Amino acid sequence: MKNQLQEIFQQKYQSTHETTYFAPGRVNLIGEHIDYNGGLVMPCAINAGTWLLLAPNNDSILRFSSVNFEENAEIPLQATYQKTGKEWYNYPLGVINELQKEDWQCTGLDLLYYGNIPIGAGLSSSASIEVLTAYALNDFFKLEIDKLSLVKLCKRVENDFIGLNSGIMDQFAVAFGEEGKAIVLNCDTLKHKMVDSRLGDYSLAIINTNKHRTLADSKYNERVEECQQAVADLRQEININYLCDLNAEKFSLHNHLIKDETVLKRATHVVKENDRVHAASKALNEGNLIEFGRLMYASHQSLRELYEVSGKELDTIVDFCASYPNVIGARMTGAGFGGCAIALLKKGFEEDFAKHLSEAYFNEIGYHATIYVQEIGDGPKRL
Ligand code: GLA
Repeated sequence: MKNQLQEIFQQKYQSTHETTYFAPGRVNLIGEHIDYNGGLVMPCAINAGTWLLLAPNNDSILRFSSVNFEENAEIPLQATYQKTGKEWYNYPLGVINELQKEDWQCTGLDLLYYGNIPIGAGLSSSASIEVLTAYALNDFFKLEIDKLSLVKLCKRVENDFIGLNSGIMDQFAVAFGEEGKAIVLNCDTLKHKMVDSRLGDYSLAIINTNKHRTLADSKYNERVEECQQAVADLRQEININYLCDLNAEKFSLHNHLIKDETVLKRATHVVKENDRVHAASKALNEGNLIEFGRLMYASHQSLRELYEVSGKELDTIVDFCASYPNVIGARMTGAGFGGCAIALLKKGFEEDFAKHLSEAYFNEIGYHATIYVQEIGDGPKRL
């Protein structure tokens, strides 16, 4: 991989003095639409990711190119940058913009990206490119910014430069991922612990609906606002910062304050999903995968009925999983509205599962799903 990319870099930029970096994508095992509500999430990094080759140039120009996209950019160095259009290079440009606010002046750079995370599939291809860029520039220019500050900086890029009001989970998972471990992250305090993802006889299957998520951004911001509304309603009686400051029991004492039926459904999902992550973390610790799987199905049902971020494609996959004897848990992962589902699949049944799921999905949806079996991968590194 590295050698091939080096050749492409040389052809594009006529230079060999590059350094190569890698950052992963992520899946979220459980705890969906929880991060911006201050609760617990349980993501992990995956083997697929993004590579960056970079070298300084003396032309005072930022040159962005990618093996995956035709669009390249050449942007003269400036004190600040603006997002232009929807092109992929807005992500690394946003990172440079944020880093410059930290009193650093970028020099001319030749940058080449390549990623093998399916784009727009809910596996955080955008957080991967953000964290990769921040990690690489921090390392290359010895900026000495700690990892958590880089994560926060990348979240600001997503929120302020790109315009998606997302939480911190994706950037955190990409930056702090470790092989074979899940991250239990408290999105309020940002304290985290790494837990062995002891999947035993099971492996983690990722199933891409291949549905393009056109509504994801606008509906995502709408959900964020609905949760803010629920907090505002509840604050008439109790002093909370986030919905996840309440467990289900406490919530039931005050939820009469939420008058709008839709907002009540959203808040109910959040509070109960947060409780499920606590239970799932305990189940994983005890090696109780059956219970973990049950919680995954419950999470999906809640995202489908209460939070309404699933859809026919994701539901078809999860329904198939529930009817397939060698899967013990499945759910959508990430923002939803398409993207990917995950399933805990008994080892040895990979081919059989893929064959039967593919047929069922095609018959129902009319195009194919893609199925991968993923290892839980490592965080960002210089190669
Ligand atoms: C997207 C966002 C995350 C998180 C998930 C839903 O991936 O970027 O911050 O909110 O959706 O859990």
